[in-house]
Amino acid sequence: MIVAIDGPAGAGKSTVARALAERLGFRYLDTGAMYRAVTWLAMQRGVDLGDANALAELARAEQVTFDGDERVWIAGTDVTSSIRGARIDRMVPVVARHPPVREVMRERQRQLGKDGDVVIEGRDIGTVVAPSAEVKVYLTADRAERAKRRSAERPGIGADALATDLRVRDEKDAERMQPAQDAQEIDTTNLQVEDVVERIEALVRARTAV
Ligand code: DC
Repeated sequence: MIVAIDGPAGAGKSTVARALAERLGFRYLDTGAMYRAVTWLAMQRGVDLGDANALAELARAEQVTFDGDERVWIAGTDVTSSIRGARIDRMVPVVARHPPVREVMRERQRQLGKDGDVVIEGRDIGTVVAPSAEVKVYLTADRAERAKRRSAERPGIGADALATDLRVRDEKDAERMQPAQDAQEIDTTNLQVEDVVERIEALVRARTAV
């Protein structure tokens, strides 16, 4: 079974998807980390972030992998921490917007998502990567709450700068952020992680019962 969890930055996707995967004994796939890793490598190698074909070539040649400890690797380097900084936050939508890059990434995501039960988190999972996912959820939260959550993850960056970054990223990501028509939308603004996980777990159980 595939559980697709989509939504904007700071809606709680990673925390919820991880906890849900653990609860259900499913694998967990973070597709945002894959775009982040390719962005990190492109910057490291000085690839022009406007050059769609060069970026797609890089993504094809240097596959992102996850080890058993959920660490993220690309080109022989553990980039788990390096991909979580504000610089990558800002540059990743620039890379992710190129259709040839998305094509390579989606292919790889489909490969990683097949076989067995998996929770896949991203922006276009329910719509494009896995449109036949058995359970689709679209998480949202109001922007102030999302900025607050992001600021807990990015200490050292001012609240105003983070709010601006989030707004700019929302605008850049917007074209890929449409909920699937058959996705269940959950507003997490006033919910605890546990509540969200329970709601999705109920959807999974209902689906399993069918
Ligand atoms: O979820 P995240 O913040 O780690 O995602 C990083 C970026 O990657 C985000 O700006 C949008 C992009 N992304 C995407 O375009 N498609 C996905 N399936 C996942 C992430």
